[in-house]
Amino acid sequence: MTAIKLNEKLLEPDLIAQADALDPIEHLEALREKSCLGAEFTGWWDYPQQHGFALEQEIQTYIRDLDVTYDLVLVVGIGGSYLGTRAVTEALLHSYQGLVKSHQPLIAFAGHHISETQLIEVIEMLDKRLPIVNIISKSGTTTEPGVAFRILRSYLENRFGKEEAARRIVCTTDANAGALRQVAREEGYKTFSIPDDVGGRFSVLTAVGLVPLALLKLDTKAMLEGASRIFQELSGDVTQHPVLRYAALRSAAYRSGKAIELLSTNNPKLTYIVEWWKQLFGESEGKEGKGLFPAGMVFTTDLHSLGQYVQEGERRFFETFLSFENDRPRRNGVEQQLRVPTLAAKGDGLTYLEGRPLNEINNAAMQGTMLAHTDGKVPSIGLQWPVLNEYNLGSLFAFFETACAISAGMLAVNAFDQPGVEAYKQNLFALLGKPGSEALRAKLKERMS
Ligand code: PA5
Repeated sequence: MTAIKLNEKLLEPDLIAQADALDPIEHLEALREKSCLGAEFTGWWDYPQQHGFALEQEIQTYIRDLDVTYDLVLVVGIGGSYLGTRAVTEALLHSYQGLVKSHQPLIAFAGHHISETQLIEVIEMLDKRLPIVNIISKSGTTTEPGVAFRILRSYLENRFGKEEAARRIVCTTDANAGALRQVAREEGYKTFSIPDDVGGRFSVLTAVGLVPLALLKLDTKAMLEGASRIFQELSGDVTQHPVLRYAALRSAAYRSGKAIELLSTNNPKLTYIVEWWKQLFGESEGKEGKGLFPAGMVFTTDLHSLGQYVQEGERRFFETFLSFENDRPRRNGVEQQLRVPTLAAKGDGLTYLEGRPLNEINNAAMQGTMLAHTDGKVPSIGLQWPVLNEYNLGSLFAFFETACAISAGMLAVNAFDQPGVEAYKQNLFALLGKPGSEALRAKLKERMS
């Protein structure tokens, strides 16, 4: 029995019937048997059991043997090389981590854009800290993290000297190929490998996510256990599972004319889970003129900006409400709760809420929104995990990765490539004058003149 709850009570019978008619199991089998499109990139399936737990031990040994003190982990990476880590840290760490007293190292990110201002601010912040820099790039040739890492390496070398700087750097990249592997060899940096058969957006449960999260002292073993549980549940003779149902429902919605899937949450700490999910589905399904466009909403904030459109604008949405039954924070093992205080002055009109937990109000807003969107002809389902912790985030990653592979199978696209991302990259290289791109450069310059 899985702990994940999929609620489809509010769907119209038509959509349910269309989903019932689909066969997601066929695509799960193709994934398990490695006969699906892009099968050479399905190494993430059952990765925890096959390699993850052993790798986790190796990472703990590296951390135990580290001979530098650190109070900040800087992750340098883009797309699948940083979004999973960011999703976990935003969900589980204190939102004002740097401002409250904590024994946990801080986390910061760079290399996911080319903004000069932001990188300058990162460097100013590093000045106040003792950082470990984890550069993560599967290809080892991506421009954004590559440029940021060059700047950060120089910063570390100027501040700590070459030898200590090297001990403060850990590289996660391809086992053999790519410029980052080459640099790591030349400079003697510690490295962890990203398996050949795991693409960026499916890599959070490999060294890509495990190294930084373990450096932050998060429970990476529990995360692997949560993921492993999903892979186990989906092995063998499975006929029903929320993963299969979710894939079928979103595919049915797409076939019935919906163009956008909204992943909505009422917990702002899940904003980067939504970002991770957007990349996963966007890069995996959006090809050959097909696929639901993955978008996200964070409630109740976005109800006061996008809510009007979702309720009454074009009817092109399918909506999935993501929640955790218990997402209250714990401090020193004690669950925290806020209630609306009882006051003598009643002028604010909130007497009816006195003594009630904020969570109850938030959940009522979520339910009210789900009902309102259903009435506004937005088919809505709920997906709920029990407690917001490492174990269930591992489960969530495995859940959506598998659902995405199955959904892409039903669309008949290869979930594991991203040919479209090359278009901007080639233009960028040409415009910056990368050797070998002279002809394209001339064409682009002419078009822009
Ligand atoms: O899913 C993917 O493969 C991409 O989004 C990559 O994660 C992203 O482009 C970063 O690539 P790399 O890790 O090679 O720097």
